Amino acid sequence: MTTMQDDAAVLRVHELAVAVAGRPVLQGVTLALRPGQVVVLMGANGSGKSTLGLALAGHPHYRVTGGQARLGDADLLALDATARSRAGLFLSFQSPPDIPGVRNNLFLRTALNALRQHRGQAQIDAYDFLGAARAEAARLGLPEALLGRAVNEGYSGGERKRNELLQLALLQPKVAVLDEIDSGLDVDGVRAVVAMVQAQRARGTAMLVVSHYLHMIESLEPDAVLRLDAGRIADTGDIALARALAREGYRNASAAVAQAA
Ligand SMILES: Nc1ncnc2c1ncn2[C@@H]1O[C@H](COP(=O)(O)OP(=O)(O)OP(=O)(O)O)[C@@H](O)[C@H]1O
Ligand SMILES: [Mg+2]
Repeated sequence: MTTMQDDAAVLRVHELAVAVAGRPVLQGVTLALRPGQVVVLMGANGSGKSTLGLALAGHPHYRVTGGQARLGDADLLALDATARSRAGLFLSFQSPPDIPGVRNNLFLRTALNALRQHRGQAQIDAYDFLGAARAEAARLGLPEALLGRAVNEGYSGGERKRNELLQLALLQPKVAVLDEIDSGLDVDGVRAVVAMVQAQRARGTAMLVVSHYLHMIESLEPDAVLRLDAGRIADTGDIALARALAREGYRNASAAVAQAA
């Protein structure tokens, strides 16, 4: 964990305030991620973890009322959602939505080619793309048939999460926010998440991982653990903070923080 002044950071968020449906949810969130860092974000239900991810991604319902966010040299908050993605930001949704009528492989290839165009890379044709997508899907334990179906339509809970990871693997962002990517996943799915996070980390992707589950948090070997409360980062620590929160609960967070210190 580093600060806004950290020149080595790829994502820098400073005193970010966000209102949802006219109510302030985030009051001043400050954090920074360096390339290849994995930072876990914990916090009680409703504390605003998803709000942070959605506001950074540019969801129009999450209104930024103060603060700054930079991705590399870019002023993230000045960009629309598409431009944020082009700049290298990726968000995996806590509840991935259905996109009826849009075939998954076409969706993925269109997204990838839009990014490749921005990066000055050649377009990938349908044949080469399918080879790459099949290989990644197999690695994630995602049935290949899902590539030919509408995005998330009729997918099981775990299949939706694995499909978010497929996007992460193919799009190769600079910064990824993974919002409860482990919820609803079976044992093999959680292993696939950990393997994917470590692979992305090795190639320099910075990741902010929202999770409630100590087992996965331990497996990720995070660089830092943060706790969000009352609209701010209330505590910053290492794996000891995650262990103490898992033991004590968020309602007893002050005891947990004392134990972790
Ligand atoms: N679209 C919305 N309309 C109204 N209120 C919202 C909306 N999105 C979020 N909120 C409210 O903002 C607060 C923060 O919600 P958020 O989803 O960010 O919490 P969270 O920390 O991700 O919780 P969880 O652990 O349950 O996923 C909650 O009180 C929630 O009800
Ligand atoms: Mg959430």
